[in-house]
Amino acid sequence: MNPWNHDVAKDEKDLVDVQVDGVWMQMPRGLNVVEVAHRAQKFIPHYCYHPKLSVVGNCRMCLFEMGTPKMGPDRKPVLGADGKPEIAWMPRPQIGCATNITPGMGIRTDSALVKDCRNGVMEFLLINHPLDCPICDQAGECKLQEYSVEYGTGASRFVENKVKKPKNVDLGERIVLDDERCILCSRCIRFSSEVMKDDVLGFVNRGSHSTLTAYPGKSFDNAYSLNTADICPVGALTSKDFRFQMRVWFLKETKSLCASCGTGCNVTIGSREGKVHRLTPRENEAVNSQWMCDFGRLNFHYLESKDRLHRPLLRAAGEQFPGTWADAIQRSVDGLKKVKPEEIAVVASSRLTLEELFVLKRLLAELGVNRVDTVPNPGQADNFLRSGDGNPNSRGTELLGLSSGGRKLGSWGTEIESGKIKALFVLGGEDLIASGLPASTLAKLDLLIASGILTNETTRLAHVVLPGAAFAEKTGSMVNVHGRLQRMTRAIAAPGEAREEWTILRDLRMALTGGNSFHSVEDVWKSMAAEVSQLSGLNWARIGDLGIQIESVAQAAGVKAG
Ligand code: SF4
Ligand code: FES
Repeated sequence: MNPWNHDVAKDEKDLVDVQVDGVWMQMPRGLNVVEVAHRAQKFIPHYCYHPKLSVVGNCRMCLFEMGTPKMGPDRKPVLGADGKPEIAWMPRPQIGCATNITPGMGIRTDSALVKDCRNGVMEFLLINHPLDCPICDQAGECKLQEYSVEYGTGASRFVENKVKKPKNVDLGERIVLDDERCILCSRCIRFSSEVMKDDVLGFVNRGSHSTLTAYPGKSFDNAYSLNTADICPVGALTSKDFRFQMRVWFLKETKSLCASCGTGCNVTIGSREGKVHRLTPRENEAVNSQWMCDFGRLNFHYLESKDRLHRPLLRAAGEQFPGTWADAIQRSVDGLKKVKPEEIAVVASSRLTLEELFVLKRLLAELGVNRVDTVPNPGQADNFLRSGDGNPNSRGTELLGLSSGGRKLGSWGTEIESGKIKALFVLGGEDLIASGLPASTLAKLDLLIASGILTNETTRLAHVVLPGAAFAEKTGSMVNVHGRLQRMTRAIAAPGEAREEWTILRDLRMALTGGNSFHSVEDVWKSMAAEVSQLSGLNWARIGDLGIQIESVAQAAGVKAG
C-alpha cells in the first residue's frame, strides 16, 4: 500500500502563467486552484478537498472567480497596458479543487462575488447543523467554526425544524459518529476506500436526509480508523479515547516521534499539566505522510499505569525497598566493582535513544565490558506503516555497535548458570523472563540491575531498580528502520523520581570511572557526532523537525538482513 497516495505530484518545471488576485505568476501546469492559491499565499477555504485523497467537489466551499484570456478578432489574446493578457471573467464561480490551471487563467479568491457565494455555502451547510459546539470535541479545531467566523454571515434565514439524524453512533471499536454534525464531505469514505482499501463507509438516503453509515454487517475498525477523526473537518467523527477528555485549546503541542515500532511516525503530543491526552500524526512525506496507526496513537496510556516505576528500588533480605538515587547508584557501583569486566553482561535496549546508548557505550568502553546485546522485539508489520520491528531504535543500537540482533544473548542463560556471567545490567525495561530466560537462572546472578518504565518479571527480581523515562518524557534521537535519523522531544516530566536514562548512565559512569563530560543531552550529541561517522557534521538543527536520511532505505534493510 502507498501511504503517500499522491498522484498529484506535478512536473515543477512545466510552468504556466496565471493571474492570482491581479498578480501574474508561474505555477506548475495541472495544479488545482486550491493548491495554486496556497502557493500564492492566498487561501481558498475547503472542506471536501484533501491533498491525499481523490477530488469529489461536493462541499462547494472552494468557490473562486475564474477568467480566461480575452481574445481579439484575430483570435489572439488582447494585451493590456502591462503587456499581459486581459482577462474575461466568467459570470458564475467555479470550484477550485476540481479546476486545474491552464495558461493565462485568471483567479480571484476574494472578490465580492466569491465572498457572497461563500456566505451562501456557509449558511447552507449550517442549516441542519446542531449547535453542539459547547460539548463537541472538535471545538477549537473545527473548520465549520473557523469558516463561520471568517466567511459566514452570522445569521440564518432558516426557520423550519432541523432534520434529526442519529447521534452517538458506534461506528467501530474506536470511532463514534454524530450524523447531525456531518457535512457529507466524504473524506472519511475516501480515506477508507482509497488509502486503506477498506470499503466500509458510505452515504445512504437523499437530500438533507443523507447519512453516513457503515455497510450493514460491517464495522469501521481497520487499524488506521482514527485518522478519519483527524481529517473529518467537523466533529462528526470523534475518537472514543479522546472524547470528552480535554478541550483542544488547553493542550500543549510537542513535536516528537511515536516509539511503538521501527517506523518512527512523526507525531504531535498533546499534553496538559504533566499528562498526555493524545497523539496525532504530524506530516512527514519521508516517513508517514499524514497518517499513523491506531495502535501507536493509543499506546501512551501506560505512562499512567499503576505498574509505573516512580522511585529507585533496592533489594534487601529478599525484598525490594524504595531508596534514594544516591543509594541506588552506590549499590550498583559496589556490585559492579566486585566482578571482573568479563563477568558483566549488558542488555542495551533498542527502545533507548541514541544519546542514552552513546553514554552506555562510553561507560562499557571505559570498563572494558564487551558482552552487550539487545532483545529483538518482533512487531506486526502490516504493509502500510507498521514495521515488523517492534523497537523504535534498532538501527541506532546497530550503528553504535551495541547489538548483534539478539544472537549473543542466546548463550547468556548458560553462561549465567556456569558462573561466567555474574552481573547483568538490563536497560530500557527489557523483560528477559518474558523473552524466555528462566527466573531461576536470573536468581543465580550476584548482581541484577534493571532500568525501565514499568514493573515486570525482571525488575521484580532485580537487586537495583532504576526508574526511567518513557518516550514522551525524554529528548533525544533515534534512527528508524529506513535509516532516517529523527528527533524526539520531551512533552512532560517523568513521574516521581524517574529520570531519563542518559542521566542515570552518566551518574553511574561518574561514580565508576570518573568520566563526567556530559552536562546536557546536547553535550552527548556533540561527542557522539564527533565519534560516529554516520552522524558526522550533523547537529539537532540540521536534523530538524522532519529528520534526515543517514542511510539509504536499501542500506538500512541490508544491515537488518545481514
Ligand atoms: Fe465528512 Fe466528517 Fe461527514 Fe465523513 S463524517 S463525510 S469526514 S463531515
Ligand atoms: Fe472543493 Fe469541497 S473543497 S468542493
